[in-house]
Amino acid sequence: MRLEGKAALITGAANGVSGKLMGFGGASARIFAREGAKVAIADINEQDGETTAAQIRGSGADAIFVRLDVTSEEEWANALRVVVSQFGKLDILVNNAGSTSRETVEDTTIEMWDGQMEVHAKGAFLGAKAVIPEMRKAGGGSIVNVSSIFGMIGSPSSTAYHAAKGAVRVFTKAAAIQYAKDRIRVNSVHPGYVDTPMTHQYFTDADLVARRTESVPMKRFGTVEEIAYGILYLASDEASYVTGAELVIDGGATAQ
Ligand SMILES: NC(=O)c1ccc[n+]([C@@H]2O[C@H](COP(=O)([O-])OP(=O)(O)OC[C@H]3O[C@@H](n4cnc5c(N)ncnc54)[C@H](O)[C@@H]3O)[C@@H](O)[C@H]2O)c1
Repeated sequence: MRLEGKAALITGAANGVSGKLMGFGGASARIFAREGAKVAIADINEQDGETTAAQIRGSGADAIFVRLDVTSEEEWANALRVVVSQFGKLDILVNNAGSTSRETVEDTTIEMWDGQMEVHAKGAFLGAKAVIPEMRKAGGGSIVNVSSIFGMIGSPSSTAYHAAKGAVRVFTKAAAIQYAKDRIRVNSVHPGYVDTPMTHQYFTDADLVARRTESVPMKRFGTVEEIAYGILYLASDEASYVTGAELVIDGGATAQ
């Protein structure tokens, strides 16, 4: 029960339906609930979000779904109102919602660029801005921002995604410094390659899978649980002296 008594909100957590391919947010929601947290699953995918929350409740834990488009400040205010009225407080925010865009610089349109900046950079900013007053009231909290190894290194494509995830990485440090005095910790997680609903469309390309697998020292992709356990650590009080840090979970891909 590593999160006993904690209330958590996880964005982009709809993909946690049993029997279907899961994402980091969905897997984290299940693990958080198992570790004693009350969990709010926030997403624009209402159907899978509701199902994930219902299944977690079915296991005896406290879980709700709340519709949230992370790019909207009004929706953040509403989601927070719902969560605090249900759980009484908020201790943990996981900014996990995301999407991809795999174009080169020349092929990236302004719409693609803005879309990536909106969901990742603006989403994490609005999330932190919304929850900090509530966490301060609760005497502290933990914000975990899901960036990527693509927020640290480049690749032949994914231009706007790299830029947006890089923004999340350094935004994390700015927020960590500003709110350390309020006992609010802010850290980033940098996953490597994992097959999830978001990336599945690309991993039907056998050549790409082979190239990426070969580039990882452990010679395999990660699992959603391996990422979720990293998020769990940073969310929990076990990480009470950790803030502004980057947790890379990538099978050694960026160590070389
Ligand atoms: N899968 C990987 O290999 C990988 C690697 C590094 C980082 N990541 C990052 O991990 C995070 C989770 O992705 P995932 O791969 O687990 O896939 P996923 O498909 O489970 O996660 C994306 C979720 O975000 C939701 N979402 C998209 N836009 C949203 C918005 N505006 N508001 C609220 N929710 C929104 C989607 O509905 C979906 O449920 C993302 O930020 C992604 O960039 C993924």
